[in-house]
Amino acid sequence: MNRDPLPAIERILFTEEQIALRIQEVAAEITERYRGKPLKLIGVLKGSVFFLTALARHIQIPVKIDFLAISSFSNRSSAPGVVRIAKDLDEGIENEDVLLVEDIVDTGLTLRYLLQTLSSRGPNSLGVCTFLDRNSRRLVQIPVEFRCFEIPDHFVIGFGLDHNQLYRNLTYVAVMKPEKNT
Ligand code: IMP
Repeated sequence: MNRDPLPAIERILFTEEQIALRIQEVAAEITERYRGKPLKLIGVLKGSVFFLTALARHIQIPVKIDFLAISSFSNRSSAPGVVRIAKDLDEGIENEDVLLVEDIVDTGLTLRYLLQTLSSRGPNSLGVCTFLDRNSRRLVQIPVEFRCFEIPDHFVIGFGLDHNQLYRNLTYVAVMKPEKNT
């Protein structure tokens, strides 16, 4: 399924196989880093869901999972950095080792807001694991402990990433054709 590129796609950046291999590597790094500590993964809805579930399956220590959702105006077509929590975590994170799992870090403004908010809740540690990292567009410096792929400055879709809520279910990551991304 999802094998034939869609008309909206310019080129495939990472195949399903490349993604699976890289996620296993990052999961192994996380396993080593947090061995002996119960880990809580916090996914940012909706984009990180595909990545988080794939990652969690390969982490070899017990993990808890929670989600939050944000309303973000931090996209390419509007003012960046205006973010609020639309759905909060189900449980507190006090004294827990927490890894925030993101689909992509672009300007870093969303993550800065989330890190500020979550760190005020008293976790034992608070790290960041992102599927994609577009460092070239960063506006604020954010510590990213784990990343799967660094990507060039093009709008991408698939494996959780959307354009107008579409294409999250693609098994690969692709660059959109510029004319479809306006
Ligand atoms: P930031 O606050 O600029 O780092 O934006 C992060 C959010 O913008 C991500 O969680 C995505 O929801 C969205 N985003 C940024 N770049 C892309 C992209 O290339 N494709 C799909 N969504 C993106």
